[in-house]
Amino acid sequence: MRLFFAVNFSEREKDIVLSKVAQIKKTCISGNFSRRDNLHVTLAFLGEVARERLGDVIEAAKNVDFSPFDMTVRGAGSFGSLVWLGIGGGEELKNLALNVRAECGRLGLDYDKKPFSPHLTVCREAKFCDGYSPSSFGDGALFSKTVASFELMESTRAGGILTYKKLFTQRAK
Ligand code: 2AM
Repeated sequence: MRLFFAVNFSEREKDIVLSKVAQIKKTCISGNFSRRDNLHVTLAFLGEVARERLGDVIEAAKNVDFSPFDMTVRGAGSFGSLVWLGIGGGEELKNLALNVRAECGRLGLDYDKKPFSPHLTVCREAKFCDGYSPSSFGDGALFSKTVASFELMESTRAGGILTYKKLFTQRAK
C-alpha cells in the first residue's frame, strides 16, 4: 500500500484554491493539474508499506498529540515544473509533521526523510506562456484554516486515475 499523511481541505477551501488555479491555468500552455479531490498538504510520505503493517501506521497516527492551530494558504511558486501554493503554518505545522514522523520512527516505519517543506501541489509538468511564472501570482493570502485533524491517505490508481483515499483521521485534542 502506498501511504502518506496529509492535512486535507474542506469543499469551501477547495473552491478558493481552484479559483486561484483557474488563474494559473490561463497562463499555462499545458500542465497536469491536481484533481480537486487530491488537494492536500503532505506531512510525511511513507511510500510502499506492507498491508500487515497498516495497524502500526494507524497506531503511529493515534500517538500524535496536538492542539488545533491555524495555517494560511498564500502565494505560489515552483520546484522545477511542479507548481505549488504556499503554506504558512509556522512552527505548529512543522511540529505536527515532525511529530507524525517521530511516531512513525518509534514504530519502525520508514518514511521519506527529506526535510518538511510545506506546500500544496496544484500542477505538475507545467509549461508557462512567455512572461509568466508562478511568481506572477503574488504572495497574497488566499485563506486561513484551523487545522484540527490530519489523515492517513492511500494513493492508488483507479482506472489509471491517481486517487487518494482517507484511511484514518486523527483529531486534535
Ligand atoms: P507532492 O505533491 O508535493 O509531490 C502522495 O504521493 C503525496 O506524497 C504527494 O502529494 C507528494 O507530494 C508526497 N510526497 C512526498 N514525498 C514523496 C516521494 N518521495 N514520492 C512521492 N510522493 C511524495
